Amino acid sequence: MSESQQIPEAILRCTEQIPPLPDVVVKVIQLTRDQESNAKELTNVITQDPALTGNILRLCNSAYYGLPRVVSSLSQAIMYLGFYAVRNLVLTCSMRNFYESDRVIYGYNEGGLWFHSVASAITAELICEKLRPDLRDAAFTAALLHDIGQLIIAMSIKDTCDTILDIMEENNIPEYDAERQVVGISHDELGGVVADRWNYPDELIHAIRYHHKPSAAKSPSFLTSVVHLSDSICLQLGYGVEAESMKYQAYDEVLDTLAINRDSIDIFSEQAKLRVEERAPIFIESLNGAS
Ligand SMILES: [Fe+2]
Ligand SMILES: [Fe+2]
Repeated sequence: MSESQQIPEAILRCTEQIPPLPDVVVKVIQLTRDQESNAKELTNVITQDPALTGNILRLCNSAYYGLPRVVSSLSQAIMYLGFYAVRNLVLTCSMRNFYESDRVIYGYNEGGLWFHSVASAITAELICEKLRPDLRDAAFTAALLHDIGQLIIAMSIKDTCDTILDIMEENNIPEYDAERQVVGISHDELGGVVADRWNYPDELIHAIRYHHKPSAAKSPSFLTSVVHLSDSICLQLGYGVEAESMKYQAYDEVLDTLAINRDSIDIFSEQAKLRVEERAPIFIESLNGAS
């Protein structure tokens, strides 16, 4: 089945209006896929865009990262944070304007989807620090972008957003099933299609596409499971969310993939609460200051 056949017409029209990723972002994604690429090449590509460079340095120097000294160049940023962390900062900065709006998204309070996304990213980072430090940066970005499809659905069907919530509540079904009934595609499926169109790295597409149904993927993914768990924890903690019906418990198969038990979730949840409350405002504010 082709991509266009999978996406309902109204949604397709909206996704076609989404501006393509800036050239510099596309080049950065390509570069970080190439095993041979190095920090100098990454620096050369990013510095072609002075505004992006400035935004990345601003974020690096924010209290969020707490680096021991002021970072004044991209090569220093790569040295302190690492190649992939800087790649992920490029993705984060490129998405900020897309998310930032006073648009009301069904199930969330005003600005709530962005707050939910930031809280999920911080939680995913925390979980990976404990379980798989090598995936820390990828988990942050995947969790930050996991609900991108919901933003697009809300942009496409402004007038009928409430219908999705009504159907969820009347039929006691999850959000993704109600979305399929109302618009013909769920936000996780749509997010996967859009991330693929943007040529996002494969692991990121997988995490976005399967964050609500990790078992539907051909093989279990640690990263996707972390995003699922972070999403569930942040919804349970009520970050940004308005409708109780959005909340769900993490699935057992995710716990198996992560090799943890339910008690671990309670611990992660307590730690996430402290960290989100401390760091989310810093992160959001430093990106708000970006141009
Ligand atoms: Fe979601
Ligand atoms: Fe979510």
